Amino acid sequence: MVARVIPVEPFDLVIFGATGDLARRKILPGLFHRFRAGQMPSEAKIIGSARSEIGGAEFQTLVKAAIVEFVDETLRAADQLEEFLQRLDYVHIDAMGETGWDTLKKALRQDTIRTFYLSVSPSLFGAIAERLSTHGIATPESRIVVEKPFGHDLQSAQALNKALLRHFDEQQIYRIDHYLGKETVQNLMALRFANSLFEPLWNSTHIDHVQVTVAESIGVAGRGGYYDQSGAMRDMVQNHLMQLLCLIAMEPPSKFTPNAVRDEKVKVIEALEAVELSDIVRGQYRSGRDNGSYFDDVENPDSRTESYIAMKLAVGNWRWAGTPFYLRTGKHLRDRVSEIAVIFKDPPHNIFPNKMEGRKGNALIIRLQPDEGITLRTTIKEPGPGGMRLTEVSMDMSFADALGDDLTSQDAYERLIMDVIRGDQTLFMRGDEVEAAWAWADPLIAAWDEANQRPVPYDPGSSGPEEALMLMHKGGRRWRPIGD
Ligand code: BG6
Repeated sequence: MVARVIPVEPFDLVIFGATGDLARRKILPGLFHRFRAGQMPSEAKIIGSARSEIGGAEFQTLVKAAIVEFVDETLRAADQLEEFLQRLDYVHIDAMGETGWDTLKKALRQDTIRTFYLSVSPSLFGAIAERLSTHGIATPESRIVVEKPFGHDLQSAQALNKALLRHFDEQQIYRIDHYLGKETVQNLMALRFANSLFEPLWNSTHIDHVQVTVAESIGVAGRGGYYDQSGAMRDMVQNHLMQLLCLIAMEPPSKFTPNAVRDEKVKVIEALEAVELSDIVRGQYRSGRDNGSYFDDVENPDSRTESYIAMKLAVGNWRWAGTPFYLRTGKHLRDRVSEIAVIFKDPPHNIFPNKMEGRKGNALIIRLQPDEGITLRTTIKEPGPGGMRLTEVSMDMSFADALGDDLTSQDAYERLIMDVIRGDQTLFMRGDEVEAAWAWADPLIAAWDEANQRPVPYDPGSSGPEEALMLMHKGGRRWRPIGD
């Protein structure tokens, strides 16, 4: 199958922080892919902006180097790359001062969609929003895109929302959580709401529990300063894992519109019950002669920040009462695996004489990465004579095999940026949603701070701390293995 490409309208996209890491790794290569695919029209213009006092030609050289580094050679024809670079411009802007804003205003076209992408520290969101407004650069139709972290706690998130809302309407604000741009994450909605097969089973009568795993094999080296102030809770759970939980647990929205979808997600966060500290395991990778330890990576030998977290959550509503949701995420684990496993209850009565040893039961596994796809584990008869013996098999569907690499290889950022240009906010977090997630996370963080709790150690390259296994065992359950 070939991906259907519907070109977006011509646009002017201003990237603040255009020489930074995210722009080099994701935003600019992503835009190049969309240009190559014919989705970004040739009338589109990308204006880089940063503190560096460079000119347009230097910026082009920088972007070219980023694309050579981050885009596969087979995917970048020289002529296409040159053509793409022609779409670029650069304006040196001092975000906290007055330099450059008038130049930026002149560089923008009338009657063209204006998008401002703030790939900068959140401490600059307010200052940039204000200058875009006071210099008459932002119009009522303009869009503003902001990156995570969106705040450090509820109070700072509220302050950021206030700073943006002073100059932009909520309908103009696109808060990125790149997990929502992942193909399989969107497929979760298709799976649940475009099929009648799963909905009758999608509740606590039939589902024993849900496991959400986002395991990373990399450590925090290189981002130690930021990470040590955040930890796995703020860096991953409050946003990415929370979004996944919402999509699994939400009620079907009445229509597929941004607000109808986001209303249902907010209800899930608000339905989360208080979590006991005994249902949370925080870990830190330690020791290992060959692998660095967390303390070294963040250059803080006394750090109490977690690089791993596992927890058991309860969604307090009619659909989910009695079905726990287990979340876990961590750095420096055995493998890079992100998946959602929905584990179904056993049949109420067993009619077969031979008990199957090691039976795991029905499960629906949604793989987000790598090898995006869906697996349904079912029980069947073991083939051959000798009576009715049972075994388990997997009906396995890989999106790449079923649909072709072409459809699955798009990066989340590419998709999300095109959604911004189209004006579709469905896959972006609304202000109240972010605040609700912080309102849930804050008391948990305060509780472990107050208990003066130290994270438990785990070996780099392992599946996480033993205590996380115990968290599952307490409920008579088991985590799925991380990696093969
Ligand atoms: C980011 C976190 O938001 O997501 C990182 O700040 C993390 O710490 C990354 O590594 C994971 O994203 P992905 O797409 O590689 O799973």
